[in-house]
Amino acid sequence: MMKVSKFGKKICRSSGIGRVMEDLGDALVKSQDILMLGGGNPAHIPEVQEHFRKSMLRLLEENDEFERVIGNYDPPQGNKEFIEAICTLLHNEFGWDIQSKNIALTNGSQSAFFILFNIFAGAFEGGVNKRILFPLVPEYIGYCDVGLAEDLFVASRPDIKHIDEHIFKYYVNFDEISITDEIGAICVSRPTNPTGNVLTDSEIEKLGELARANNIPLIIDNAYGTPFPNIIFTEAKPLWNENTIVCMSLSKLGLPGTRTGIVIANEKVIAMVSEMNAVINLAPGSIGAAIATDLVRSGEIIHLSREVIRPFYEKKAKEAVEQLFENLDGVDFHIHKPEGAFFLWLWFPELPITNKELYERLKKRGVLIVPGHYFFPGLKKQWQHKNECIRLNYSQDKETVTGGLQIIADEVRRAYDAA
Ligand SMILES: Cc1ncc(COP(=O)(O)O)c(C=O)c1O
Repeated sequence: MMKVSKFGKKICRSSGIGRVMEDLGDALVKSQDILMLGGGNPAHIPEVQEHFRKSMLRLLEENDEFERVIGNYDPPQGNKEFIEAICTLLHNEFGWDIQSKNIALTNGSQSAFFILFNIFAGAFEGGVNKRILFPLVPEYIGYCDVGLAEDLFVASRPDIKHIDEHIFKYYVNFDEISITDEIGAICVSRPTNPTGNVLTDSEIEKLGELARANNIPLIIDNAYGTPFPNIIFTEAKPLWNENTIVCMSLSKLGLPGTRTGIVIANEKVIAMVSEMNAVINLAPGSIGAAIATDLVRSGEIIHLSREVIRPFYEKKAKEAVEQLFENLDGVDFHIHKPEGAFFLWLWFPELPITNKELYERLKKRGVLIVPGHYFFPGLKKQWQHKNECIRLNYSQDKETVTGGLQIIADEVRRAYDAA
């Protein structure tokens, strides 16, 4: 047997995100029969795709544009024209005081988290091991395994507020949070994957203040947020300042295949991200930036996000919730208030089987979801709640979602009835 390092062993361990992406790949590529409510794939929205197609055709038709895009490496910071266009857009939309030196591209925002988490946590001089704090879990499964060092995360339980009999919302429990010397950065996704939560403006402001007071960055994962793809159904004020790192992505807009992430941060952080890009990838890929630059320059990306993408997902969320209320009538179920992203987070209190077992049973019936226990990175305390929740993605076509929800409701009911 070949021997591998501790890092090699850590990476080879079965990771939650690895299983999710395998399920996703198998379902979307190999089999048409699977009802895919797992994974984080965005919908294929024809009106949006039409714009991407037009952009691509323009690249192909204009002089040597296509050859230039695929034939050259971009600088490690990423495509200059795209960065400038994003800079102007964010300045115009939000008045953010940023320049090109405040933006770097990465191969998907996933790789930005790998870079940022390992810069701000892990072994520090003086023997301190620092961690990334997730002030509110459940949090994005993709964060769980990106640490080069073991034990890179710390998290605390949220407050749960029941809005009505079947709808609830998580809030940051500030009493549980203490920023010790061991915290290297604070990170939240907003809107949150897996719950569809949107942290309130006051929560974000408080976290920003805590971060600043302790001289650590607040990382805001804006993969679903404003100004694009704007899959956000409530009012939420965007935040950026020299102490905040905002991560964005073209994926949820409909371009996950191009792997384009956007990091907005102070100059020093951007220099580090660019340097890491050079070491790991030489340069970030160019094709996503090339397809999107005109959409960003013209502002069309904002129009699409507001007028097409957001209403598309909001309608799907509403329909999915309505169906679940019907299909789960009489069952003790709770749904996290869907405020953004494209997931529903379902909580079945005292479910007689674990969510993992529910996942297996659903898989046998051709429905894929993600069991909720994967979404608690850094939470060390036992919490039964972790095993009572599941995440489902409602972005696929109507038949898939309707069929999937029906089977989920049926299996949950069976589990309760058999107890
Ligand atoms: C909250 C969140 N952040 C980041 C990512 C990573 O996306 P990408 O690497 O495609 O930009 C995802 C993908 O599902 C996500 O849900």
